[in-house]
Amino acid sequence: MKLVLNDKINEDILSSYQKDVTRVNEMINKGTGPGNDYIGWADWPVNYDKEELARIKKDAQYVREHFDILVVCGIGGSYLGARAALEALNGLKSDDKLEVIFMGQTFSPNYVAQVMDYLKGKNFAINVISKSGTTTETSISFRLLKELLESQVGKEAARKAIYATTDKEKGALKTLATKEGYATYVLPANIGGRFSVLTAVGLFPLACAGIDIQAMLEGAQEARKEFSNDNIKENMCYRYAVCRDYMYRHSYPVEMYVTYEPQMSQISEWLKQLFGESEGKEKKALFPASATFSTDLHSLGQYIQDGTPLLFETIINVLSPKQDIKIPHDEEDLDGLNYLEGKDLAFVNQKAFEGTLKAHTEDGGVPCNVIYLDKLDAKTLGYLFYFFMRACAMSAYLLDINPFNQPGVEVYKKNMFHLLGKKGY
Ligand code: PA5
Repeated sequence: MKLVLNDKINEDILSSYQKDVTRVNEMINKGTGPGNDYIGWADWPVNYDKEELARIKKDAQYVREHFDILVVCGIGGSYLGARAALEALNGLKSDDKLEVIFMGQTFSPNYVAQVMDYLKGKNFAINVISKSGTTTETSISFRLLKELLESQVGKEAARKAIYATTDKEKGALKTLATKEGYATYVLPANIGGRFSVLTAVGLFPLACAGIDIQAMLEGAQEARKEFSNDNIKENMCYRYAVCRDYMYRHSYPVEMYVTYEPQMSQISEWLKQLFGESEGKEKKALFPASATFSTDLHSLGQYIQDGTPLLFETIINVLSPKQDIKIPHDEEDLDGLNYLEGKDLAFVNQKAFEGTLKAHTEDGGVPCNVIYLDKLDAKTLGYLFYFFMRACAMSAYLLDINPFNQPGVEVYKKNMFHLLGKKGY
């Protein structure tokens, strides 16, 4: 991975943050900052539960051998990481033998009813994921899924097809899982949802989808080793975090994550949650937005180029795609494309990246950071996830914000529960 920061940032600016970076790095390493009871993710790549990982791999193999579909039921941090990794690594039209479907992330009657109709008569397993065990979107979906499964295969077989990821000791899902005897995995008490992609929350569904979760953890281990020091001259992760802070304090309130791969657009969703929910407090912080180019160059592109100068971009550019395809020759050449005959689409995509970077930076004056990845495999993705989680902790603390709570999320819930007539609201 290589990081090239935008041209508003220079070594003097980065060095001016050294003292703060040293202070915050110690807070992360020693777990002494606000919200420190949720700092478990920082050492998780080495501290993970080895026995559980072995069980995850074994159970995932069983799921692959015995079911056609896995329904992953969760929302927010209990959903986005697995979906992001799954799509990024397996693609949007995966032909893997196990189909993975997500539910529990919406109240939409259309979506839920369609998934339920699709599952009728099919051989599916469920991975229900909720740390609290009381999240309404997830609970409603799980109730429906469980009922359908039991009606199709009977209560006993359903029990063996339900895998629950939740708190070790408490919560409604934990109580239900214990009573029913579901296989369970733990979302450790000291790791919050949006920092949990490398725990069973992400690893079990990803292992079911045939993804090399050991390699993901190895990537995260490498990142942890590289990014746990305070040297702002070398630590790419903190250089990026400092850049975010500087941009925010210098009239760039929006960071736009950009990818040139539609199958990475869920990584942008994961990033939006990670940074948005961690930092958006006390009327502060960058607004995390996202775009997928070149698709969005035909929609938001105009605004980015010429609109209000409020955003900077952070582009994730994967240099070698997993698959490629050549542009064919056409005898008549009525579309005028023969000048590209024999060229790979990866080549065209890279030229689109280069041309857009030049247009946005030179003509549009839009500051652009670029993260270059040679390829996107499980190991690189584990590395990237850790890079961003650590950068998020650093940049939130630089803003004097506790990255690990989400008090604002409760407000809509209270209103909704009141309107729904829930007892006590
Ligand atoms: O990051 C977070 O903590 C949240 O996004 C949660 O993951 C989300 O609200 C789901 O919570 P739970 O896992 O308790 O169902």
